[in-house]
Amino acid sequence: MYNAPMTNSNTSVAKKEYWIAPSILAADFSRLGDEVKNVLAAGADIIHFDVMDNHYVPNLSIGPMVLESLVKSLANLPEKPIIDVHLMVKPVDRLIGDFLKAGADYITFHPEASEHIHRSLSLIKEGGAKTGLVFNPATPLEHLDHVIDLVDMVLIMSVNPGFGGQSFIPGSLSKLADARAIIDASGRDIRLEIDGGIKIENIASAAKAGADTFVAGSAIFGSSDYRDTIQQMRTRLEEL
Ligand code: DX5
Ligand code: ZN
Repeated sequence: MYNAPMTNSNTSVAKKEYWIAPSILAADFSRLGDEVKNVLAAGADIIHFDVMDNHYVPNLSIGPMVLESLVKSLANLPEKPIIDVHLMVKPVDRLIGDFLKAGADYITFHPEASEHIHRSLSLIKEGGAKTGLVFNPATPLEHLDHVIDLVDMVLIMSVNPGFGGQSFIPGSLSKLADARAIIDASGRDIRLEIDGGIKIENIASAAKAGADTFVAGSAIFGSSDYRDTIQQMRTRLEEL
């Protein structure tokens, strides 16, 4: 796990710990276990697992059975990697138990996709995983208002969900800043993740706007050297 350097101040307040989260949507699915081992060895902090149902979003990806075999294939690593499951499915609740059983550490979902947001968050928490709400570009942050005590991660989508390889929507930066203000005002330990079109060139602007967790699919898996790409992202973050 990457630990950001301490500041020079007398109080030794630690700088925010940044997490780089490769999205396996852009990996070679025929070699998924090896791809995940390779990005972990290359310095990834967590693994972002995109679940699409061809109903909530117009694309179909992978489900809990794939996660279960992936987690088994990683069992010989010194420690279990953190798996960040991003559910782009509707309804949500039916699948929560399956992903908990399969080894999810975070389960995030879109508020529009759940009839009962408080119930879905509670199901995830009661199952022992961390929770998260995901905000599409046009979804207001007000969904956090009455449930923030149950939220461990806020995920701001910087593209419309459904596909990898899309361009970052610039308005996402001000939304990140708004989410950062809400999180800081809550006093809770909540991660702020950004997802969609993140690359070496724009990761620092997302961090400046308040993000601490960066999903990158095509930028990492589409590169010829995962380690070099992750290191360059890290360097941009260290320069802040
Ligand atoms: C989009 C997914 C993203 C996607 C990111 O619906 O949630 O996680 O895989 O891919 P890139 O980094 O290529 O935009
Ligand atoms: Zn995602």
